[in-house]
Amino acid sequence: MRFSTDAIHAGQEADAATGATIVPIYQTSTFTQRGLGEHLGFEYSRSGNPTRRALETCLAALEGATHGLAFASGLAAETATLSTLTPGDHVVAADDLYGGTKRLFEQVLRPLGVTFSYVDGTDADAFADALTPSSRYVWVETPSNPLLRLTDVRAVADLAHAAGARLVVDNTFATPFLQRPLELGADVVVHSTTKYIGGHSDVVGGAVLTNDDGLNERFAFYQNAAGGVPGPFDAWLTLRGVKTLGVRMVAHCANARAIANALEGRRGVTRVHFPGSVAHPQHELARRQMRDFGGMVTFELAGGLDTADRFFRALRVFSLAESLGGVESLACHPASMTHAGLPEEERTRRGIGPGLVRLSVGIEDAADLLEDLEQALEAAVG
Ligand SMILES: Cc1ncc(COP(=O)(O)O)c(C=O)c1O
Repeated sequence: MRFSTDAIHAGQEADAATGATIVPIYQTSTFTQRGLGEHLGFEYSRSGNPTRRALETCLAALEGATHGLAFASGLAAETATLSTLTPGDHVVAADDLYGGTKRLFEQVLRPLGVTFSYVDGTDADAFADALTPSSRYVWVETPSNPLLRLTDVRAVADLAHAAGARLVVDNTFATPFLQRPLELGADVVVHSTTKYIGGHSDVVGGAVLTNDDGLNERFAFYQNAAGGVPGPFDAWLTLRGVKTLGVRMVAHCANARAIANALEGRRGVTRVHFPGSVAHPQHELARRQMRDFGGMVTFELAGGLDTADRFFRALRVFSLAESLGGVESLACHPASMTHAGLPEEERTRRGIGPGLVRLSVGIEDAADLLEDLEQALEAAVG
């Protein structure tokens, strides 16, 4: 089936017990068994739950994967992916990563003996140079956060495979509607379903999708052994959200494009980062690798922190908040919010200055969003 049909139907047949059209919230920790070894496929909800199973089947279909596993958060999904590593193993990662991912690498995995090298994610050759015989994973986010840089998934998958490593793509920003990394050669896709997949900023979750039977067996073992699973209600909320992913992404992309166009050349805005702009250094790659350019727009305000603060305080429709991917528009100041954990010199090196603003463009009426930004810019920079 095609994307939105799968989003609404994959894994979501009418309930076998009752005929319920919508997958019920199986809010139960345990399942009654008929006799020893005789049950209906479920025994205990950490090991398996029908609502979670429906979500896992649906997300696998959307990413074109044979296997899908849902987790309690994006970071729990990442931890499951990393659980295959042992001391001495090495990971090559793009340097423009979600801060929590870097914290997991550096403060949880590194003390356990796993090593990490960081390279410019826009430079495929840099991955080749950093790969060693101990490299097990190459790990990228594309588009990246907050500067919306792209990694060439096909090129990096080939390099990883030539070195005996697997490519993991965090597809949170693009979603499978815009980009399907497994079809481009990636081995594993991870998601924070908290973002566009859930889509309504009301549930935290994560997922791991793969076509590799061996890897999936290890991730599934870890899911049950470590137990970081979503509860049935969280799985159900995510499943309800994902049904509209296709139509929401079309609206997010259209609004983001309108906003990027309006910001480009606006007085007081020194730079706009948006993969859909012809000025974006990887616009051609974005056209090749993505169906559309996404709902995130990042821009730089002249004038630094005080100007940025005036801008955020003046916003009326956009909320000043962390996170992204919900139907409502959010504005965030990466230097003091999402990326505050990075040392200042690293922020500066990565281009995350005091005037940088990241927008998660929602699906409200574009004219209201444009008017809100214009009046906030007027208040901040005139
Ligand atoms: C790209 C990306 N990956 C992973 C995560 C972590 O997901 P969660 O917050 O659901 O644990 C985030 C959260 O912001 C993210 O933006």
